[in-house]
Amino acid sequence: EWTMQSFIEDTVAEIRARVGDDQVICALSGGVDSSVVAALVHRAIGDQLTCIYVDTGLMRTGESASVLRFFREKTSLQVIDVNGTEFFLSSLEGIADPEEKRKRIGYGFIEIFEAEARKLANVRYLAQGTLYPDVIESVSFRGKAPIKSHHNVGGLPERMQLDLIEPLRELFKDEVRELGLELGLPEEAIYRQPFPGPGLGIRIMGPVTAQRLDILRRADAIVLEEMKDSGWYRKVWQSFAVLLPIQTVGVMGDSRTYEHVIALRAVDSRDAMTADWSQLPYELLGRISNRIINEVRGVNRVVYDISSKPPATIEWE
Ligand code: XMP
Repeated sequence: EWTMQSFIEDTVAEIRARVGDDQVICALSGGVDSSVVAALVHRAIGDQLTCIYVDTGLMRTGESASVLRFFREKTSLQVIDVNGTEFFLSSLEGIADPEEKRKRIGYGFIEIFEAEARKLANVRYLAQGTLYPDVIESVSFRGKAPIKSHHNVGGLPERMQLDLIEPLRELFKDEVRELGLELGLPEEAIYRQPFPGPGLGIRIMGPVTAQRLDILRRADAIVLEEMKDSGWYRKVWQSFAVLLPIQTVGVMGDSRTYEHVIALRAVDSRDAMTADWSQLPYELLGRISNRIINEVRGVNRVVYDISSKPPATIEWE
C-alpha cells in the first residue's frame, strides 16, 4: 500500500544507498519543491547535502532575506548564499525576448551555481525538485517543441558531470505539499504559491531595468499583502502583478499623466498544466487597484487578466 510515510521511508533508503559517501548539492529557491527535496535528501544523508541559494535580484520584495532567515533559523540544512543581483541585471540589459531572458537567467544561474559547487569536494549528485508536470511540459512531446524552457538547473549536470537525484518526479504539487508537512516543514514553507525560476524577470514585459523592477516589486508586494490579508492567498494557485510595456493616459488633480500599467493575474489550478482565472471578489480587486495606483509612483492604471490556460499561459512570458 502506498502511503506518504512509506514513500518517505523507501525514498530515504534509496537515496542513502545510491549516494554512499559522496556529496550532494541542491539549488534551494525557497519554493515548495526545492525545500521539500532538500528536507528529504537531508533526512537521508544529513550534512552530505549542501544547498546553494542564488539571489538573482529578480525576487519579490524581502524574499531572499526571509528565505535565508527561515532556512538558517528553522532547519539544520547547510546553505551557501550568493548575491547575483548585479550580474543578472547586466546580463539582461536591453533584452526583451522572453525565451532569451529565460536563457540568460538560466545560464547565469548555472555559472554562479557551478562556481560555488566547484569549491566543494567530492560532489557527485545534484538533487532537484522536478515534479511530474515539469517532466511533461519541458520535454518535447510527440515531436512538438517544449512549450516554454522551464529550467531547474538544466545544463549543469552535463557540465559538471553530476548525476541527478529527482525524488519528486512522479508527484503533483499537492502531493509534494503533503510530503513536506509529513517531513515537518512548517506551513509557511509549504503553502507558498509557485514562483518561477526567472522570477520577476519574466513579469516585466520588455527589457528589465532596476527602475522597472522597483515598480513591479512595489505593486507585487501590495498584491501579496492584500491576498494574504483577505485569506485568498491560499485559495488560489498563483497571484501576482505583471508590468506592461506600455504607458497610458490618466489624470491626477488638473494634470494629465502618462504612466505604466500593471496587470493582475490570479489563477486556480492543480498542476499548472491547465488553469482558470480566479474569480476574486470585486471588492478585493478594487482595493488592490486603488492601493497600487495610490502607492506606486509611475502607475496610473491596473487591469485584471481574465484568460485561462490554455490558450493563455499563467505567466505572461
Ligand atoms: P506557464 O506560464 O507556462 O507556467 O503556464 C506554468 C507554471 O510554471 C511556472 N513557470 C516557470 N517556472 N521556470 C520555472 O521554474 C520558468 O521558466 C517558468 N515559467 C513558468 C509558472 O509560474 C507556473 O506556475
